[in-house]
Amino acid sequence: MSRIELKNIDKFFGDNHVLRNLNLVIEDGDFMTLLGPSGCGKTTLLRVVAGLEKPQNGTMTIDGVEIINAADALFVEPSKRDLNLVFQSYALWPHMTAYNNVAFGLKIKKIPAAKIEEMVMKSLRLMRIDELKDRYPNELSGGQQQRVAIARAIASEPKLILLDEPLSNLDAKLRIDMRAELKRLHREIGATIIYVTHDQIEALTMSTKIALFEEGCLAQVAPPMELYMNPIDLVAADFIGNPRINFLKGTASYSNEKLHVKINIGEYDFDKEDMTEEPIPEGEFPCVVGLRPEQVYIHTEAVESSIPATIYAGQPAGSETLVTLTVGGQEFLAKEIGLKDYEMGQTVYLEIDPNKLNVYDEKSTRLIKLAV
Ligand SMILES: Nc1ncnc2c1ncn2[C@@H]1O[C@H](COP(=O)(O)OP(=O)(O)O)[C@@H](O)[C@H]1O
Ligand SMILES: [Mg+2]
Repeated sequence: MSRIELKNIDKFFGDNHVLRNLNLVIEDGDFMTLLGPSGCGKTTLLRVVAGLEKPQNGTMTIDGVEIINAADALFVEPSKRDLNLVFQSYALWPHMTAYNNVAFGLKIKKIPAAKIEEMVMKSLRLMRIDELKDRYPNELSGGQQQRVAIARAIASEPKLILLDEPLSNLDAKLRIDMRAELKRLHREIGATIIYVTHDQIEALTMSTKIALFEEGCLAQVAPPMELYMNPIDLVAADFIGNPRINFLKGTASYSNEKLHVKINIGEYDFDKEDMTEEPIPEGEFPCVVGLRPEQVYIHTEAVESSIPATIYAGQPAGSETLVTLTVGGQEFLAKEIGLKDYEMGQTVYLEIDPNKLNVYDEKSTRLIKLAV
């Protein structure tokens, strides 16, 4: 268990300013996911934490102890940071059994043999591969090899485990299984985990907190559901959620402690208490309303205050149906659970809860009204 605090971290590769004045606190026991598109600096930050890269500016502490202080040229060696790192390519030693792959690092640390056996078996059991202990890597499936790599990382009971896209080489079904395993593992060992991924579903399903990157800066750090419900700007809203959030353009104005919003599907008033602290432009201003596809309810008959809409196309996919709709020239997507069959051009009636809408100032791109 450990608490990590990063302050004002800058990392350059030549002219490339990869981490830009980055500040992040990872609380003891967090499963913190660094999420963002490829090339935004996630691996670089993980390598800074591990001690494999030196930032040009900034400080880092683990449990209050200074590990990095760039101004004083203080960089504690990787081996003295009490952490373990698992990379995307989880190279196991091919000439060693699963057991020996896990035991190897412990032997180097000169831990007594009996204790080593206890630690190795415990971590193999935690990863549910204790029965495979005598197999060599080429006798294990990709998923089993990945479990050995993670068992190796947790065997020495480090305070901090760093995982860099550890599931990206696995097929879709194994990834889902391993997400569940990692989540359970985190609960059982209680270690602090920093996990890197570009896959928002992985981030949403496993983390206690997500740090969302936008080009070397952190756009938002929040628990998964908070990030999903209320992405802080339009880029974050667009990145989080599959299928993607709908953006409906309109106009807004703020007066008498009410935000009045006009979009193609209707007009809405929101109370001040549902608004963020972001500054609100004077007069009428362009806004963008975020509407999650699963927040659109489709009725075949009119209900109270429902909105008539036209079916553009339905995409039944077994467990869910994606439906493209149009209202007054505005096209957007709805998601329904189960199989639904609609005629193209059919008129349907939409029910939308205004509380679930996010409102963004189009110019600043910032969230001004929260979904509640
Ligand atoms: N060792 C390095 N030397 C030079 N540039 C690097 C090095 N490592 C990473 N970069 C650059 O830093 C940026 C961020 O890379 P990285 O942290 O690997 O991104 P991510 O893990 O989010 O995909 C990229 O532009 C990448 O080309
Ligand atoms: Mg990376």
